Amino acid sequence: MKGFRTPKDVVFGIGALEYLKQVNGEKAFIVSDKVMKDIGSVDKVASFLKEAGLSTEEFCEVMPDPDRDVVEKGAKKMQSFAPDWIVALGGGSSIDAAKAMWYFYEYPDITWETVFTAPPALRNKAKLIAIATTSGTGSEVTCASVVTNKLGKVHFKEVIATPEILSDIAIVDPELMASMPPKVTAATGMDALTHAIESYTSIATTVVDQALAVSAINNTFKYLPKAYADGRNLVAREAMASASMMAAMAFTNSFLGIVHALAHQLGTEFGVPHGAANSLMLPYVINYNSIACADAYAEIAEALNLDFEDDKDGTNKLIEAIFELQNDIGLASNLKDYGITETQFNAAVDTLSQNSMNDITVHCNPRVPSIDDMKTLYTKAFSGEL
Ligand SMILES: NC(=O)c1ccc[n+]([C@@H]2O[C@H](COP(=O)([O-])OP(=O)(O)OC[C@H]3O[C@@H](n4cnc5c(N)ncnc54)[C@H](O)[C@@H]3O)[C@@H](O)[C@H]2O)c1
Ligand SMILES: [Fe+2]
Repeated sequence: MKGFRTPKDVVFGIGALEYLKQVNGEKAFIVSDKVMKDIGSVDKVASFLKEAGLSTEEFCEVMPDPDRDVVEKGAKKMQSFAPDWIVALGGGSSIDAAKAMWYFYEYPDITWETVFTAPPALRNKAKLIAIATTSGTGSEVTCASVVTNKLGKVHFKEVIATPEILSDIAIVDPELMASMPPKVTAATGMDALTHAIESYTSIATTVVDQALAVSAINNTFKYLPKAYADGRNLVAREAMASASMMAAMAFTNSFLGIVHALAHQLGTEFGVPHGAANSLMLPYVINYNSIACADAYAEIAEALNLDFEDDKDGTNKLIEAIFELQNDIGLASNLKDYGITETQFNAAVDTLSQNSMNDITVHCNPRVPSIDDMKTLYTKAFSGEL
């Protein structure tokens, strides 16, 4: 038996942000970052909420790849304001931080261990509105929150995974994404593509997940270069916003694969942005996984109208198309181009490989990896040779 979970209300399209004017409630706590504050998006959200009769408070200190400290800091401010709505505005970082703060607001004495291993029920004090400003993670419609653990010398990402953490209202308004600089557009767009491909080939996928995933893949190949070339192109922004949302709806039900397991470590160790790290690892993992699911990759190649002869050839054509897409949007296809030296790489690769095996996303990968496999994949991605 398979299920499909998604937020109760998903509001989508140009102007969707105005939905905030209809929210019923008293107090809204906005969680965002400095960039969104500086460009006026936080003020716009606050003014719509005020129009709906809510008073607002803001916490705009979330940084990319949020850690436990920022979550605890935001939660303290949330506790003193006592909102009935939490309004997360941003990319995956702000939305994930808000989701994690939600636990510490509802349960001030909860431990991180409980949040990760046995997250209790939410909505005793507040509900969540998640407003996406990137077209990548799709965190506004997912059952996950990713928090970076910086307690030890080696930093790593931990995931709160539970349907409890789904937003009550997800808002996806492409106009909010028009301000994304090309680099962020490129990286977050490749995150969406990775979600879709990993969902399509997950061992837990369903026909529903695959239908969403394949639409997301088509949109990304067609519109990501256009959104990258001209961020004001709202047709391209809308297509990428829907790609990101559909890919996330798919993967939150089917789960992901080892592209994410490998990429998470590159983010925490070397600071490679999440989407760029996924983009980097994706072709190498497709090549590695193809022994298990070349037929699925060939189906994707067919949906993209690529010319190929058999499943293996279809897989290779898909890999070539991904390298071409990366090139079109200025993303590196090897780790060296992110400024990582051979000495740095050699010093880190064993720990990265070990930690990647502990990542939750390993479990639904179509091929069961070993630590040695992970090391080989990192080594290939470092040199750029398949
Ligand atoms: N919860 C999930 O389901 C899920 C899934 C995948 C990844 N993640 C996590 O999400 C995080 C990455 O999120 P992301 O890729 O969306 O990026 P992000 O939220 O880290 O944002 C990246 C940068 O872009 C800026 N930015 C965002 N929107 C902008 C806009 N409209 N205009 C101008 N600048 C803008 C931000 O201020 C930030 O500096 C990672 O921590 C990753 O692990 C979560
Ligand atoms: Fe992702």
